[in-house]
Amino acid sequence: MKVLVIGSGGREHAIVKALKKSSRIKKIYAAPGNGGIGCDAQCVSFSAVNIASMTDFAVETGVNYVVVAPDAPLAAGMVDALERKGIRCFGPDKKAARIESSKVFSKNLMKKYGIPTALYEVFNNAEKASEYVKLASLKYPLVIKADGLALGKGVIIAENRDEALNAIKLIMTEKKFGDSGLNIVIEEYLTGSEITILAFTDGKTIKPMISSMDHKRAFDGNKGPNTGGMGVVAPAFRYTKNVADICERTIFIPTIQAMQKEGCPFKGCLYIQLMLTTDGPKVIEYNSRFGDPEAQAVLPLLETELLDIMEAVTDGKLDSVDIKWSNAYSACVVLASGGYPSEYKTGAAITGLGENGMCIDSFALKNGVIVYHAGTEKRGNSFYTTGGRVLNVTASGQTLNIALETAYNAVRTINFDGMYYRKDIGKY
Ligand code: AMP
Ligand code: GLY
Repeated sequence: MKVLVIGSGGREHAIVKALKKSSRIKKIYAAPGNGGIGCDAQCVSFSAVNIASMTDFAVETGVNYVVVAPDAPLAAGMVDALERKGIRCFGPDKKAARIESSKVFSKNLMKKYGIPTALYEVFNNAEKASEYVKLASLKYPLVIKADGLALGKGVIIAENRDEALNAIKLIMTEKKFGDSGLNIVIEEYLTGSEITILAFTDGKTIKPMISSMDHKRAFDGNKGPNTGGMGVVAPAFRYTKNVADICERTIFIPTIQAMQKEGCPFKGCLYIQLMLTTDGPKVIEYNSRFGDPEAQAVLPLLETELLDIMEAVTDGKLDSVDIKWSNAYSACVVLASGGYPSEYKTGAAITGLGENGMCIDSFALKNGVIVYHAGTEKRGNSFYTTGGRVLNVTASGQTLNIALETAYNAVRTINFDGMYYRKDIGKY
């Protein structure tokens, strides 16, 4: 089989490495990929949202299966276009991808089907939204969300009325996120622990993966700006069997049934971000894809071949697959460029990596540390930074502490100019 993985981050590197375990795959392409992915797959250099180039390439090269990993191509209808050419895909079609690409759609879905989530109102008009946030009965903080995709930046937590008015102005009047801000959701602020559940679903059956916990803030102590994610541990220690049972009954199954009833069954990886509140688990949001960096911590624990599960999802036969997980713990530490998530420099030489992109350190090698590349390019036998999140160093162990210690030992053998990382992953 020839498989194409669309995307260019650490998540895609984790997917490529997991797929490589299948003997049925003869060739893996990645579009556009990155320096590290290029050590495991053949990179082809067109953009992840270029539907025409992607479908032409897949047809001309005889690609049998495509994994569409990032949100933007899913929302743009990449799966629909490839399937029209007869190419099988992993990922939801455009209609089902609305569960991420439109917060108005997902909030209304949850309300209609009684799935627990924060109370909310939708607005398509800045004046009405501004009147609403001035209501004396409203409690702050309030959460203001652009309806559409906004590179993870479309959520503003307003501590008071002025901040709420500014957020409405930024999103709706100044159109900071373009058409993504034509509609907004204003919702109740939830408190509790945030947990990520990634789940395979073929639209009828849903099989949650091992739980995980992302660390979204840039700095230690959960301080600083929100990022795409600075580190992950799996499983998430607060996600007990009891919580899992409640989620299955009140959230997971109702969600896939709701999507079916709306005529857009969801096939692929459904990402459910949960807040464990004192009133029980509630959905913060859905994503239509694997999380990044959640995938980098979760997929190494998967013992069943990823390709077999993905094909079962595509074929609507997920119920027939027995998915096995290691009972180890996994920890992933993100190495970022100084300044990320704002401005940062690129082009710095990375030390501590071999020509295959993995650690050269003998302790790391002996302990099976994996370095997933997020923002790198390879020149000669060396790697250079190209992005804000650069490398994702992942280790597993029989306890969370062992996994974390192993990952941090490996991290300390890698360096580039301006590199920073959180030193407290797994402590929150
Ligand atoms: P999202 O892009 O929806 O994942 O939101 C980004 C982050 O904002 C989440 O990871 C949460 O930490 C926070 N957030 C979003 N919605 C809420 C909410 N209703 N209450 C509290 N925090 C929220
Ligand atoms: N780690 C957050 C995300 O993938 O959206």
